[in-house]
Amino acid sequence: MSHIFERTVINGMVLENRLVRSATWEGMCTGEGRPTEKLVSCYRDLARGGVGLIVTGYAYVRPDGRQLPGTMGIYTDDFADEMRHLTDVVHAEGGSIAMQLVHTGGKANTAGLDCLPVSPSGIGLASSPGPSVAMTRSDIESMIAAFAAGAARAKEYGFDAVQLHAAHGYLINQFLSPLTNRRADEYGGSVENRRRFLMEVYAAVRQAVGLHYPVLIKLNVDDFLEGGLIGEEAIEAARRLDAAGMDAIEVSGGTADSGERTPARGRAKSPAEEGYHRELARQVKAVVSCPVMVVGGFRSRAVVEETLQSGGADYIAMARPFIREPDLAAKWRQGGGSPAACQSCNGCFKPGLEEGGIYCVKQREKERLHAGD
Ligand SMILES: Cc1cc2nc3c(=O)[nH]c(=O)nc-3n(C[C@H](O)[C@H](O)[C@H](O)COP(=O)(O)O)c2cc1C
Repeated sequence: MSHIFERTVINGMVLENRLVRSATWEGMCTGEGRPTEKLVSCYRDLARGGVGLIVTGYAYVRPDGRQLPGTMGIYTDDFADEMRHLTDVVHAEGGSIAMQLVHTGGKANTAGLDCLPVSPSGIGLASSPGPSVAMTRSDIESMIAAFAAGAARAKEYGFDAVQLHAAHGYLINQFLSPLTNRRADEYGGSVENRRRFLMEVYAAVRQAVGLHYPVLIKLNVDDFLEGGLIGEEAIEAARRLDAAGMDAIEVSGGTADSGERTPARGRAKSPAEEGYHRELARQVKAVVSCPVMVVGGFRSRAVVEETLQSGGADYIAMARPFIREPDLAAKWRQGGGSPAACQSCNGCFKPGLEEGGIYCVKQREKERLHAGD
């Protein structure tokens, strides 16, 4: 019996199956972060394609938290109409959609804003050397309020859930990591202090949306960086989040500085190399009672099925496969057993940066060849 196509409920949110479109920056919003019809159409295809839950690309909660071009903004009420239209379209197709909330901290691109990026201690890493400004206590307070306001907006606009982005080296992860958090106050130093910002963001978001609305988190369970956040500390954070009422935890790992162990790794040479955060997810599952999602390199239906069946995770999240095949869930539901066609080449980033939206370059090449171009 396939576990993939079981219907489940997370704090009132009904999911038609256990497949999740992991947050994927699409680069399809305007410069100020307003969703476009191109983005709406992307989500329509995903919902129509039957994936259980769509998580949006990371949406920035303050203008100084934006990183890549064309990212969605959730810092203002000005985009309410477009946001409501977007969730209506997904719901009309029978889909569910969560908004991922982010501040990219020291990795932000603040060009045109007349301010430097902010970060826990003003420390950058090779992929984002800075400069950035260390946050004051009042910056921290206003940042927490910005996450809460973003969550309240997402709920108001019809999103079925929010997901905190606490992975991949962005602001929450920067607080958790001893490499980027060298603070001497109660937000730095001990593991408990480094975790404080995350716990306060969660508490404020929960307060803003209430108990009966799903709050999810994507958490780095290992940064795979010398001196960075390690499994033991992240697993304890997961345990505490679960105890505090977190509705689901998506396990990820790595940052742009993690060499071969970045969040979006190269192609697996065998099914055994797929699902490269499976072991970390198992460790999280052992200490929490909320559902666990796992992302990273899943491509074969058999590996997805085995991970669910063996209790290694409750949901399987994928990002790149759905860029090439937004209807992957429908194909598998109809009995197709082929692995996702995605080759994990990361060619999808370039058109997002240069052409106003991501797409699978390999698929486009194939179509051109067929058309005899
Ligand atoms: C084009 C692109 C954009 C991404 N944007 C986000 C994002 O906005 N938020 C996030 O948490 N992860 C983002 N990721 C990482 C993915 O969600 C996922 O963790 C990673 O790609 C591994 O999963 P996969 O092998 O199924 O693609 C992105 C990845 C790609 C390729």
